[in-house]
Amino acid sequence: MYRIQTLNNISPLGLDRFPRNLYEVASELSRPDAVMVRSADMHGLDLDDTIKAIGRAGAGVNNIPVDRMSERGVPVFNAPGANANAVKELVLAGLFLAARNIVQAWDYVQKLDDSEPGLKKKVEAGKKQFKGVELPGRTIGVVGLGAIGVKVANTARDLGMNVLGYDPGITVSNAWRLHAGVEQALSVDELLSRSDFVSIHVPLVEATENLIDAKRLRLMRQQAVLLNFSRAEIVDEAAVLEALDADKLSSYVCDFPTMASKNHPKVVSLPHLGASTDEAEDNCAVMVADQIRDYLEVGNVRNS
Ligand code: MLT
Repeated sequence: MYRIQTLNNISPLGLDRFPRNLYEVASELSRPDAVMVRSADMHGLDLDDTIKAIGRAGAGVNNIPVDRMSERGVPVFNAPGANANAVKELVLAGLFLAARNIVQAWDYVQKLDDSEPGLKKKVEAGKKQFKGVELPGRTIGVVGLGAIGVKVANTARDLGMNVLGYDPGITVSNAWRLHAGVEQALSVDELLSRSDFVSIHVPLVEATENLIDAKRLRLMRQQAVLLNFSRAEIVDEAAVLEALDADKLSSYVCDFPTMASKNHPKVVSLPHLGASTDEAEDNCAVMVADQIRDYLEVGNVRNS
């Protein structure tokens, strides 16, 4: 029997890929052959030497000690692209709500006292205060053209936006997937200086930590919007707050709880919801379970 330990809730559709006559699957289990994980941080864990494979039911592997596992010859599988549509849809929601100040306007309405005689005037004032912009003709810069970045770039193009992409390591297949008219910038700096909206889609690795720092924020257009649905550490949050307070940026929309900027009126932050859909959770779990089975049963490595 193979033993699979789950460190987070994994979609039952994925767990069903392990036939129960061959596999024992549980969260509490000693000496596992493989571990399936979503975002639980595995860096501090004492990992059993029986582990032969780790499967991340998601794209980013920054919660897994990949180097330590590689030294032991343990492959780390992930699910690139399996949640890309879910993340793209949330990025688009972020784009629309930033363009139309939806969260701030909603908050304004929540605070209105509807028994007040001046309500009509306050509604008029809100219309003025939260006036937005339309997307066609505006420029969005997409940093990172992997599975998610390509989808964001293409949809933005379909919305009539000018799209600038940047990815020094773009693959041939991803380049072919980009819609006509998506222009490639030569550097992050060029992209930042030419975009009204900037969306970050790079993995968190040493080279991308603080990629968007104070110096780069200064290159951005006045009143630009920064969207970060990747990892918090890619953006220097303190520098972003300064840029928001100085009216350099108009808003920061991100998919992490940003404690320092929790009540900031120009920050919209979410509890890492990008891949939290039924479909994405099923797709990721199935993709990773199949890779683990393939490896344990026949030694195949499809992606590591
Ligand atoms: C990912 O890396 O795929 C995302 O962060 C989604 C997640 O697992 O929450």
